[in-house]
Amino acid sequence: MQQHSPTVLVFDSGVGALSIGGEIHSRLPWLNLTYALDSAGFPYGEWPEEELTAHICTTARRLAEHYQPDLLVMACNSASTAVLPALRATLSIPVVGVVPAIKPAAILSRSKVIGLLATPGTVTRAYTSQLIQDFAEDCCVISVGDGSLAPVIERWFWHGELASDTGAHLALEFSRHPRAQEMDTLVLACTHFPLLADHLATHFPGVALIDSGAAIARRVEQLLATPAQSREAAGTQKAVIIGDHCASAVLQQRLEERGITRNELFSGR
Ligand code: DGL
Repeated sequence: MQQHSPTVLVFDSGVGALSIGGEIHSRLPWLNLTYALDSAGFPYGEWPEEELTAHICTTARRLAEHYQPDLLVMACNSASTAVLPALRATLSIPVVGVVPAIKPAAILSRSKVIGLLATPGTVTRAYTSQLIQDFAEDCCVISVGDGSLAPVIERWFWHGELASDTGAHLALEFSRHPRAQEMDTLVLACTHFPLLADHLATHFPGVALIDSGAAIARRVEQLLATPAQSREAAGTQKAVIIGDHCASAVLQQRLEERGITRNELFSGR
């Protein structure tokens, strides 16, 4: 008898959900994925922590009631570093958070000088400082909080515009640090950034760029033990855009390229 395949809700302020969901889909193609893109709430990296927590908990509860997922991935570093305890208390399903990949970066780095590129929210969170203290105490961590790159990537996915020098200002920011020349590992601690990793790499020659996507897919696999019969059929993938604007033609095409064949609107209120 065909078993039901679990559904995972991958929730972000925008297209960052696609980088995390893409990793989950390639590792676990039988899962049904619902990508929730909170266009109305974007950018989370600029919200005050308390308001962001309230907004995410309310929105996640409404999404969970409507879509009945088996697990929720909070596919956003800016949100996860602020809201995980409250979100887990709000929902009755498992919640997987995406937080900066400081620990693997500290292990990987030979020079012990690592970069952290995130939104302004993520770099200032107590959660992030604690991660550095716990896992990178022997490293010099060069942090750059940038509020411009996620909106550029969001626009690129919605409208197809990307300036050829995108990211050049970030290399300049890092280069101001006295130990910048020694930096050999850079943590992309915003889920939007891996979507632009190949391009960013050209601005950071010789530096390994790392993110949390693959680790998140492994964590989802551990939490959702799927019976062998349910792994045979391909899972469905759909996008839910929270707000008032349907997917543009450019975004629709990008979703389809990823096998996300349906998209629908979900009211932001
Ligand atoms: N994708 C979000 C993150 O991982 C950032 C974008 C935003 O500011 O909303 O931090």
